[in-house]
Amino acid sequence: MTPSTRKCWSALVGAETVTTDTFAFADEEALAEAACTLALEKVQEALGERNRAIVVLAGGNTPRATYRLLARSIVRKRIPAERLLWLFGDERWVLVDDPQSNEGMARESLLHPIGAPASTVLSWEAGRGDPVGCAERYGAKAADAMLGQNADLVFLGLGSDGHTASLFPDAMVHFSSGRTVAAGPQVPGFAVAVHSLTAKGWRLTLCPGVLNAGRTVVFLVAGAEKSSALKRTRGGDPATPAAWIRGERTVFMATRDALGIENADFGRDVRHA
Ligand code: 6PG
Repeated sequence: MTPSTRKCWSALVGAETVTTDTFAFADEEALAEAACTLALEKVQEALGERNRAIVVLAGGNTPRATYRLLARSIVRKRIPAERLLWLFGDERWVLVDDPQSNEGMARESLLHPIGAPASTVLSWEAGRGDPVGCAERYGAKAADAMLGQNADLVFLGLGSDGHTASLFPDAMVHFSSGRTVAAGPQVPGFAVAVHSLTAKGWRLTLCPGVLNAGRTVVFLVAGAEKSSALKRTRGGDPATPAAWIRGERTVFMATRDALGIENADFGRDVRHA
């Protein structure tokens, strides 16, 4: 990102200073191992500083391997599960026992294996009632639970269309007032319901402001089909929703093919300007 882009970028999301780092991996296994190491570092840092770690989990498939490794590490290192607070960056409009549920995937791969107490897992309680009310309740519940703290670690995925969480390019945000607006970097509030034809219906998502407040935001990206979206995201393309998101520190952890990295560059830290 050139300084001028960064200036433009900061103006876009109101970030004062953003640093981004990009790391390339041979495959998803190596990516998951590194993501687990970084996550552990951030969780233990937060526990040391604030005696609590707040983590926002991504959905989809890519994070599953990282979550499985993270669960084993948390158990092995006897990290107190009661000091960890888990949110979900987004959710599909399904019940938690639906195979499509992001919460369901995280419970199976991470939260159940570490014995996360119910009070530490903030469920969207998706799939019943109305999505708009559900999002509003989640926002209130999460804001209360976070006690004014920002997330210490935010995991995000990336869709080949450039979406992240459920911020889709075609997403329309619905508010309880009946107002609807196109999703954008300045969507107000904590959590919203969006309707997207790409997503084939309703989705629930944390707002960019909440994600951008994360101390460390980690994008987990695998597969050549993501390379165009990842390039646009790293380049700060305002038409790419994932580009709206920059934490205090933003780390892109991606497979080589997702970065379109030639062999010559492989293995070195592809640091972003
Ligand atoms: C979801 C996600 C979404 C996901 C990307 C990448 O609900 O699907 O939150 O943002 O992270 O679509 O998904 P994959 O990791 O499965 O490619």
